[in-house]
Amino acid sequence: RVAYVNGSYSPHGQAVVHIEDRGFQFADGVYEVWSVFDGKMADFEGHMTRLHRSLNELRIDIPMSAAALTQVLRETIRRNRVVNGIVYLQVTRGTARRDHPFPAPGTPPSVVVTAKSIPLARGEAQARKGVAVLTQPDIRWGRCDIKTVGLLPNILAKQAAREAGAYEAWMVDEMGLVTEGSSTNAWIVDENGKLRTRDTQANILKGCTRTTLMELIKEHGVELDERPFSVEEAKRAREAFFTAAGAFVTPAVSIDGTKIGDGKPGPITKRLRQLYLEQAR
Ligand code: PDD
Repeated sequence: RVAYVNGSYSPHGQAVVHIEDRGFQFADGVYEVWSVFDGKMADFEGHMTRLHRSLNELRIDIPMSAAALTQVLRETIRRNRVVNGIVYLQVTRGTARRDHPFPAPGTPPSVVVTAKSIPLARGEAQARKGVAVLTQPDIRWGRCDIKTVGLLPNILAKQAAREAGAYEAWMVDEMGLVTEGSSTNAWIVDENGKLRTRDTQANILKGCTRTTLMELIKEHGVELDERPFSVEEAKRAREAFFTAAGAFVTPAVSIDGTKIGDGKPGPITKRLRQLYLEQAR
C-alpha cells in the first residue's frame, strides 16, 4: 500500500507526519472519507464541498486547489489498486512548536491521503442479516457539524458497542433523542410507517450519503419526516438503518438487544440501499 503525505507518495508503513503536527497534538484538523464503488468515488462533490466548509469553519488554509486534490485522491486510489473500498483524506493546521494559538500565518497545512480495499461482500453480508446497535450518551462538543479528527467520544461509543457485541453505537442527547451514529447517520421507519431522520440544524454531521439518499427519497415520492426520534421510538420502529460512506445503507435489526420489527432488514431499508447503490454505480 501507498500513502500520500505532503506532496509525495511513500510506502504505507513508512508514511509519517511530524510529532508536532497539530493533528497529533490537538486533533486540530478535518477529514473526509469517500466510498470507492466500482472504481468511482461516491458523492464526490458533496464530500468536497463539506471539506471546504469544515476548513473554512476552522480557518485552516485550503491546502491545494480542488483540481489538484482530486488528482491526488485518484492517484492514491490508482496506486493502491482500489476498486471497492474507501479513500481517506486528512488536512491539519500543519506542523509548529506546540502552542495553543494558531501557528504563524503561512504555516502550510498537512495533507494525508490513504486508500484501502474493502470487499463488497462484507457490506453485502451485513446488508442481508442486519447489524446490532447499542445506544450511548452523546458526550461530544457543540460543533458536530464540522468533520474534525477529534473523535474521542465517537471511538469510545463505537468501542462500547463492539464490546457489547453490537456493530454501531447510536448516540443519545440529554432529551433521550438519538443524534447520530458514532460514524453514521441514524434513520428509522417509525411505528406509523414514516421515514424519520434527525434534522441537521440540531448539531450532527450532515452526511453526504444522507443528502443523496434524501434526494432519491424525494424523487421516488417517499415521504420523509426530518425530525429527531427517541430511543423508545427507535425500539418500537418497524425498521432502522444507518448511512455513511463505506456503510451505504446498512440495516440495524436490534437496538440495545430489542429486536426491530421482525429482526430482519425491512423492505424500505432494502429498497433504499438498492436505490443508493444504483445511482452510485
Ligand atoms: N463517518 N456522522 C458521523 C459522526 C460520521 O463520522 C459520519 C461519517 C457520518 C456519515 O457521513 P457521510 O455519509 O458523509 O459519510 C455521520 C466516516 C465514514 C468516518 O468517520 O469514517
